[in-house]
Amino acid sequence: MRFEKCPHRPGVALWNQRIERVANRAIRALDLAAEISHLGGRKANYDDYRYEFIGGPGETLRRKHYDRSLRLLWKSEEHAPHLGFRDCSDGERELLDMATRALTPAEKKARNRLAKPEFKALLDREYTTREKQAIVNILSAIGHGEAYAWLVSAELLGEVKSTGARAALTMQVMEEAKHFVVLRELLQAFDVPIPRQSAWEYMFLEGVAKAPGLEKFFGMNVAVEGIALSLFGMMSHLPGLEVLRLFHLDESRHTGLPMNYFREFPMSAWQRHNPRARLRRFRLILPALAIIPYLEEDLAELGIDAFEFGGSVLKKISLLAERAGFFLPVPRAQLLELINAGFNAYCTATRDGHEFRTFTTAETTRGRREQAVEREIFGVA
Ligand SMILES: [Fe+2]
Ligand SMILES: [Fe+2]
Repeated sequence: MRFEKCPHRPGVALWNQRIERVANRAIRALDLAAEISHLGGRKANYDDYRYEFIGGPGETLRRKHYDRSLRLLWKSEEHAPHLGFRDCSDGERELLDMATRALTPAEKKARNRLAKPEFKALLDREYTTREKQAIVNILSAIGHGEAYAWLVSAELLGEVKSTGARAALTMQVMEEAKHFVVLRELLQAFDVPIPRQSAWEYMFLEGVAKAPGLEKFFGMNVAVEGIALSLFGMMSHLPGLEVLRLFHLDESRHTGLPMNYFREFPMSAWQRHNPRARLRRFRLILPALAIIPYLEEDLAELGIDAFEFGGSVLKKISLLAERAGFFLPVPRAQLLELINAGFNAYCTATRDGHEFRTFTTAETTRGRREQAVEREIFGVA
């Protein structure tokens, strides 16, 4: 390659470099002084000398979360064509058309019925109005949670160290945005009123959004995502809700993020164990416990025992919390015993002929693929 050089005076360029060097030393010294005296300083936690975010490359996190998220990236247009999203690229749409052409007439018919009016007809065929309302009441609780997940993961993006962790959080922000808009469209297709947040959801999610620093990982990636994972796993086998399988897969990745992050940037023993933090975590999840009896009637409509669901969720959340180092005021085994006792006391008071049950050993995730995903995360616990 040959370039036609522009004329310039080397002396001028030299002066420009000198001026820049002086300005560079001055601005960095000023910012350092401001930082030392807690008066501000550089805002970006970015190391331009190393071309890296503070904390280093964090390549394990990048591979486990960012690369994996991109590999598993799903498009609503392909998996839920009835929702009217146009998020496939031309190439993906072409592939989709080719795949559709290869379908048998019966398969084609099954796919075509997924246009919006046909999807609504399918919902009407499969569910009574009361059942549709129950599904919407339950899923909208996590739908509002997705809005907070979007907001909180964007805030966490500014809290984490390393290039890999930021790449991981960036993917989570994008996935939460997708969850929010896709779930919203899905619930609107049910043609029943979508409820506001209950007082308990409001208190719980506001608590998560207001949690300081990396404690947001506990509120969001452990507690909210643990509930979301369980809800999607419980409902993805229902007709018309198959796309929730993909939500479930995304949330499983999000629940693993705190543990993987703290492996590279561990919390101090004080951060993990101090009594104030333990109490704050416990107070944070208290309103979430009240959601269980609040949704009892709607869950019963779908043949699900609210306390079995609650037990199944708390079993998973408490394991995720312990693994990440977010300790609670009492050890996990005792906590589960206490929760069981509380659930049974409530059921004795409100249900006819209730007999003591160990709700925290229940498993409400239904789909086989979803059970396999959860086995990978939780083992046999
Ligand atoms: Fe989500
Ligand atoms: Fe998530």
